Amino acid sequence: TAEWIDIAAADAVPAGDVIGVETAGLDIALFNVDGTIHATDNRCTHGDGRLCDGFLEGHEIECPLHQGKFDVRSGKATYAPADKPIRSYPVKVKDGRIWLVK
Ligand code: FES
Repeated sequence: TAEWIDIAAADAVPAGDVIGVETAGLDIALFNVDGTIHATDNRCTHGDGRLCDGFLEGHEIECPLHQGKFDVRSGKATYAPADKPIRSYPVKVKDGRIWLVK
């Protein structure tokens, strides 16, 4: 069965923004797209870029290192040089907290 992990306060991610959270052995990027929270691995699949330092536009995150892009809803790479997906995680917001499944 799925084990939900408490990641952050529900209001920790400003609308239209991204934060990085390191917890439970994970390095996670949390995105707020129009009030919906999405979670992916924080580390870019192309190199050492940390997506929490990147630029979120709509549902796309641009990596700060070489400007590759990913869809934060699925983790799919959408713009070169990023070509491998980042892992995305199921998320829920409950009791004022953000939870995800590892
Ligand atoms: Fe992210 Fe190169 S490290 S695009």
